[in-house]
Amino acid sequence: MSEKRKKVDIATRDLVLSNDQLEKVVVLLEQEFNEGLKRETNPIAAVKMFPTFVRDVPNGREAGKFLALDLGGTNFRVLLIELNGKDFRSDSQIFAVPQHVMLGSGQQLFDHIAACLQEFMDSRHLNGTRLPLGFTFSFPCRQEGLTKARLVQWTKGFACRGVEGQDVVQLLRSSISKIGVEIDVMAVVNDTTGTLMSCAHKNAECRVGVIVGTGTNACYMESADRVELLPSDFSDRSVDPPQVVVNTEWGAFGDNGVLEFVRTDWDDEVDTYSLNKGRQLFEKMISGMYMGEMVRSIVADLTRRQLLLSGVGSQKLFTPHCFQSAYVSWIESDPNGSFAKTRDAMKEMDLGHADDDDMAAIQMICERISTRAAHLVSAAVATILRRMRREYTVVGVDGSVYRFHPHFHDLMAKKIAELTPSEFRFDLMLSEDGSGRGAALVAAVAVRQIADLRAAGLIE
Ligand code: BGC
Repeated sequence: MSEKRKKVDIATRDLVLSNDQLEKVVVLLEQEFNEGLKRETNPIAAVKMFPTFVRDVPNGREAGKFLALDLGGTNFRVLLIELNGKDFRSDSQIFAVPQHVMLGSGQQLFDHIAACLQEFMDSRHLNGTRLPLGFTFSFPCRQEGLTKARLVQWTKGFACRGVEGQDVVQLLRSSISKIGVEIDVMAVVNDTTGTLMSCAHKNAECRVGVIVGTGTNACYMESADRVELLPSDFSDRSVDPPQVVVNTEWGAFGDNGVLEFVRTDWDDEVDTYSLNKGRQLFEKMISGMYMGEMVRSIVADLTRRQLLLSGVGSQKLFTPHCFQSAYVSWIESDPNGSFAKTRDAMKEMDLGHADDDDMAAIQMICERISTRAAHLVSAAVATILRRMRREYTVVGVDGSVYRFHPHFHDLMAKKIAELTPSEFRFDLMLSEDGSGRGAALVAAVAVRQIADLRAAGLIE
């Protein structure tokens, strides 16, 4: 190892988490889960454990045409999904959410969504057809029913005025009514619930949905008697034993200070330059929105300390948010001793003067950041598996980091196995478009349940 790499190795050791530290993360997260689930402690709990009102996975009898809207990152999607038991066909269109809309008023955002929906329906000649719709809205919401969700706070770079505290389905309906399109909003779901549902549609053992993308979060099937925030009439008509999908919102883990033993000064810096300072601290150590920024902060710091790049940076290196998270995947896809992709990333950052030792050290930094992220997510997944105590569980996973980072899946599979007793077996299953298809599936289950109740004479 070169002198330069040795020095960078020593300077970044705190990024390497031992199994003892990860074990402690598991114990702490378990405590946070319990606090979030209890009525008395929920108001002050960091991890909110929102009940979702989704209590049943698809049974394969769902059928028909459904619309889905998917809002949760920099893109917004409209989908038309045709379900027929286990088969499905989908057609979708991606629309950008411009920065001025992400930071504008709530009305602008929902009018933009309605306009995109109208464009989609026009181009598919769907006008005049009344379709059930599932809305994937991937932000922390307190749900008051399957079609009522109040946004608690924005995350992931969104900060639209006048939406926090409001029911997002109401805002959506009011913007849609202005364009005169007829839609029945049947369900609002988080992307984690969508992921769980779409994986459960394929494999009935799926009980957990995880996202490692722009943000991070998970949901899982919890026994209803442990979820104190459920309304008292919830278990009527539900499956036996009663259960419900709980949206953990684990991204906020650590917001009460419990993760300080694994956070570093660079984590503080990333937090300082974010839109939601002091919030979503676990998410900021893991997800795609922050991974590049974390690497940038470290490389900039070590350059200032003359440990890298002969002390010479670039304007981009010293400007927050200029290092894309995708560069981390490029850099880590270079085989050992090779620098082709790393050099491309250096050129993008105006750091063409990096020599091989610099690039090897930067590769090590990227590897440490993504490995730390994968290990923290693994500890969180292990917390859920240990809690569920099932013999075999399929964990549905989605998100750009999990999908596109070259080693993330393998790192997770290995570390979860180390942190979970061997009697609780598991598999990680890549979800196929969970956030789009999952919303349509929840809408389809709702339509099917209403039809079943009607057939049984229980409702008009
Ligand atoms: C949001 C979650 C979402 C996750 C993944 C987080 O920032 O709070 O609701 O599930 O990102 O998209």
